Amino acid sequence: MTIKRVGIVGSGIMGSGVAEVAAKAGCEVVLRSRAQESADSMVAGLEKSLGKQVDKGRLEDAERTAVLGRVRAVTELSELADCDLVLESIVEDLPAKLALFGELDGICGDDAILATNTSTLSVAAIAAATKRPDKVCGIHFFNPAPVMSVVEVVRAESSSDATIAAAREFAEACGKDVVDVRDQAGFIVNALLFPYLNNAVNLLDSGAATRDDIDTAMKGGCNFPMGPLELLDLVGLDTSLAIIEALHAASGDPSDAPAPKLAALVAEGKLGRKSGEGFYDYSKK
Ligand code: 3HC
Repeated sequence: MTIKRVGIVGSGIMGSGVAEVAAKAGCEVVLRSRAQESADSMVAGLEKSLGKQVDKGRLEDAERTAVLGRVRAVTELSELADCDLVLESIVEDLPAKLALFGELDGICGDDAILATNTSTLSVAAIAAATKRPDKVCGIHFFNPAPVMSVVEVVRAESSSDATIAAAREFAEACGKDVVDVRDQAGFIVNALLFPYLNNAVNLLDSGAATRDDIDTAMKGGCNFPMGPLELLDLVGLDTSLAIIEALHAASGDPSDAPAPKLAALVAEGKLGRKSGEGFYDYSKK
């Protein structure tokens, strides 16, 4: 594989999930968080996840040691200087991403590919923050990254064929099926999924059905693995709100506006599983 050393920026659920799949694919992984504490907790999370796989007999102990040996947690962006690919997985905030890509552009080697795991933001705008827009693309993993089988490779107008080919090769080496998509809000999955999730919140808020009945209905009626309200809690209500706001901004259609109840929960700090409460209460689980 062309890509041997991968940098991951961002210490959320997606960053650690992608670190796991990339290290399992044989890549050296440099995980960068702003605080050593979050970098260390990502490695601890990775150890736990690999431990479960060893317990289930799906991973050899020696392989777990080898995978962990390929992952290094750092706090300085300069540690990503010799990466072949850097995958950004920070908060869904365009100014923050533009600043990061500008910095990475100055730090990374001329041949390095800079990719974003954004769900909805413009890859072209992110590419334009660098002097290498041909080497910027989207590589969009899904949550939980070790489990979900698909990756969207997003081509901005400026992305070169070589960049797209290397991104595809990386995602395939991570064991994923790759789909190609143009750089537009929500790409394929989120453009279709989030209007549905947003509508589920409005349906709940209208009093038409209870939380449990909405989730049960979509699991049993459509064979979805999770109901929409459970899934929102998994993704994170803040992330979900940012995605729905971005889709709404792109369409300008008032019916795409974020559900008021979703915005209210985020304002209350109820962000789903990661904060202990969202549509469901996880504090006792
Ligand atoms: N990390 C690693 N493995 C995990 C995991 C995690 N976070 N969560 C679950 N798994 C594994 C389990 O170990 C188990 O593996 P096994 O069957 O090999 O033993 C398998 O996944 C099934 O897990 P469980 O039995 O615990 O639970 P479920 O059968 O209920 O599955 C689920 C959990 C895989 C999360 C399933 O409910 C599911 O697929 N849900 C839908 C997820 C989804 O739609 N994701 C997309 C969200 S949108 C998105 O990511 C876009 C982004 O831009 C926001």
